[in-house]
Amino acid sequence: MQLIDGKKISDEIKQEIAQEVAQMKKNGGKTPHLAAILVGHDGGSETYVGHKVKACEQVGFVSTLVRFEDDVTEATLLAKIQELNNDADVDGFIVQLPLPKHISEQKVIEAIDPRKDVDGFHPVNVGRSVIGLPSFVSATPAGIIELLSRYKIDTAGKNCVVLGRSNIVGRPISILLSQKAKVGDATVTVCHSRTRNLDQVCANADIIIAALGSPEFVKASMVKEGAVIIDVGTTRVKSETTKTGWKLTGDVKFDEVAPRCSFITPVPGGVGPMTIVSLLKNTLLAAKKDIYK
Ligand SMILES: NC(=O)c1ccc[n+]([C@@H]2O[C@H](COP(=O)([O-])OP(=O)(O)OC[C@H]3O[C@@H](n4cnc5c(N)ncnc54)[C@H](OP(=O)(O)O)[C@@H]3O)[C@@H](O)[C@H]2O)c1
Repeated sequence: MQLIDGKKISDEIKQEIAQEVAQMKKNGGKTPHLAAILVGHDGGSETYVGHKVKACEQVGFVSTLVRFEDDVTEATLLAKIQELNNDADVDGFIVQLPLPKHISEQKVIEAIDPRKDVDGFHPVNVGRSVIGLPSFVSATPAGIIELLSRYKIDTAGKNCVVLGRSNIVGRPISILLSQKAKVGDATVTVCHSRTRNLDQVCANADIIIAALGSPEFVKASMVKEGAVIIDVGTTRVKSETTKTGWKLTGDVKFDEVAPRCSFITPVPGGVGPMTIVSLLKNTLLAAKKDIYK
């Protein structure tokens, strides 16, 4: 069994980005600029945005954090999005989700200029990526593809089972893995809460991508000997052994599943760190106008 070290790979990619940014600056180019909008004070969102801002600093990007209180109106938020769309210095920006209930997330996503949509959530980017056109691919699926690529895991013709069909993880990764591509060409089954005989479907998989948000859902009995396991789940579970009183738990029962696998991602330190570097990569692509001229 080989552990897929997302922390190590993400550090390597950050160094690659930092070198490229340094060269761009040396050549008199503009410094890439990522902006993030954060609404309210949700603990998880504060942490994620904090990590994103810190990662920008590490690679030499400019970052801007725009904060609103929970009671911000949808109109005010949409006006700020328009402002960022029109700000020539900002190459890309994200609106940290989830948003308070009185704001339509879909309206917010669709208000972002697709050329600056470095989260890859806008329907234009989703649609372009589905038919294999250059696009901003959402960060978590892009990070998974990068991990499979860097560990030279062969996906062609493999039975791949994706657990979960969300717009940000399950659906896009299932599409990417089924595409005609170097990391792709897999035979993909997408599972969800209405799937029957899920244990049997999993037991037939060469690759399982678990993105359910259900801690330790995937057990050893559901995993074929030699399978590749990518655990996307990150649920805060109460713990008496940590200072914080909780621990981040994946969707895979790691201790019993790991001995059966050829490759497996840990939680934390697997997919999570890759999500942030994928956002940095998208911002670099936006700054270089590699996707949209
Ligand atoms: N590491 C990272 O960077 C990263 C990034 C994003 C998300 N995550 C984590 O990944 C997990 C999934 O996130 P998400 O946003 O994709 O979640 P989500 O929107 O809640 O979607 C969960 C999906 O799993 C399916 N599901 C839930 N319980 C199931 C069960 N018992 N059997 C079969 N299917 C089941 C749901 O089916 P239905 O569609 O039928 O409801 C749904 O499609 C969460 O733990 C999240 O925190 C991590």
